[in-house]
Amino acid sequence: MKKWTREERYRVLKSPDEIRELHDRTVQSDYRQTYHIQSVTGLLNDPNGFVWHDGKWHLFYQWCPWGAVHGLKYWYQTVSKDLVTWENVGVCIRPDMDMDNAGAYSGSALPGKDALCLFYSGNRRDENWVRVPNTCTLKLYDNGKVVKLPWPIFGPNPNYTEHQRDPKIIYNKEMKKYFIILGAQTKDKRGCAIIYRSNELQDGWEFAGELKVPGFENFGDMWECPAIESIGDYDVFLFCPQHLSIEGRGGNIHHNGYLVGKMNWETLTFEHDNYFHFLDFGFDSYAAECANNMPTEDNAVLVAWMGLPDTSYPTDEEEWSGCLTLPRELLMRDRRLIQRPLPALAALRDGHADLSDGKLPRACEIEIFCQGDVELRFFAKADGSGGYVFRYDDEKQVASVDKSGMTQRYNQQLGEKMDRPLANPLTHLRIFIDRSSIEIFANDGDGVFSSRIFPVEGEERLVFEGQGKMEVWNLRPAIRDEFVV
Ligand code: FRU
Repeated sequence: MKKWTREERYRVLKSPDEIRELHDRTVQSDYRQTYHIQSVTGLLNDPNGFVWHDGKWHLFYQWCPWGAVHGLKYWYQTVSKDLVTWENVGVCIRPDMDMDNAGAYSGSALPGKDALCLFYSGNRRDENWVRVPNTCTLKLYDNGKVVKLPWPIFGPNPNYTEHQRDPKIIYNKEMKKYFIILGAQTKDKRGCAIIYRSNELQDGWEFAGELKVPGFENFGDMWECPAIESIGDYDVFLFCPQHLSIEGRGGNIHHNGYLVGKMNWETLTFEHDNYFHFLDFGFDSYAAECANNMPTEDNAVLVAWMGLPDTSYPTDEEEWSGCLTLPRELLMRDRRLIQRPLPALAALRDGHADLSDGKLPRACEIEIFCQGDVELRFFAKADGSGGYVFRYDDEKQVASVDKSGMTQRYNQQLGEKMDRPLANPLTHLRIFIDRSSIEIFANDGDGVFSSRIFPVEGEERLVFEGQGKMEVWNLRPAIRDEFVV
């Protein structure tokens, strides 16, 4: 595996020509996706700036152009009219100023008066490579022009460590105020979120205080990508606590989860029912972001990075890595989040798949109405063994996934099996397979399992054991793997 020097990782991209050949090689990969957003070259991590604006969905991602490595980060832009078909637009935020010289880190977006306003973490490094986190903003005009405010809207808060990032911009209609919530770390190394407030979108920001989350004062050493969303009758506090071992999550110490409750923006307190829910029960999901400025009120759409920090993937050797999950519609049922595939996805169905040879298409949707125990093997070997296994134990009412049967194993130290107790007996499954990913939605989104999957030659069978009716559709491509930089 290539060893990267800091110079290589933090090299500035001066011209698209520097990565054209890398792109040409990347698109040859057997694991390139056909309807998921994926890195144009190099590495993709968090989704950023997810917003409805100017009749389109804008969705950006954290991008390191040079290879499957975290280095100098840019925001790469994609757009869609329907959240299903996506177009590459190109680089949007370049880390080209002193305030963001070591990367344009994660953030969010909200439409302003004359342009879309983006908020991001300017990851500055000083001459001794000490991190200085700035919160920065820019205007993205509808003609594509980007105008950065050439200074941060605020700099580092001296009462916290250098880990302060991922601004989520929120407009509070009742109070007629803007809020920014940032992930942070206290001086004694506890994860937290801090809040800023302003009457204007890109000016007048002041520190409001630390978010109080009773009972969660000691929950990991840093909270990345925090957000507060109103969904149904509740508020949901989403965040990614880091360096925290939790039973049932294998060796993984970076989590993406949420609390359900009510946010009090006057006292900056999130009252909740004291239960940390995991967003996903697959192996690869992190840094989820909900869209801002939803065109219809009371709706929410979430997308996540189908990956994890501090990991490696089989495509690293091909010098690229990372894709996003499918966007999911969120609703609240019995104080837990339900994540549903979007209805518009039905447009990708391209006829029933021919399964007479037992082979699983590499891009397909499977729907099963079932009862009782279920065992599904995806990409099993010719003799029906191995594969990525989904099981449902009816007696225990627990669904689980197990990836230990795949030939290409990766991130084994993080665990290869995950359980999800369901709220009700399993009756329905919708499964989306792209060339190197699988997303399973159990019982209308009560249990979601998102994972990367890298079948090799000879791993192509679908095995279904259980009682039920199964339909499989081929899916049309919804992205073009185009080189737009
Ligand atoms: C989460 C994260 C963010 C940061 C970004 C850098 O995966 O570490 O906290 O802004 O990625 O790419």
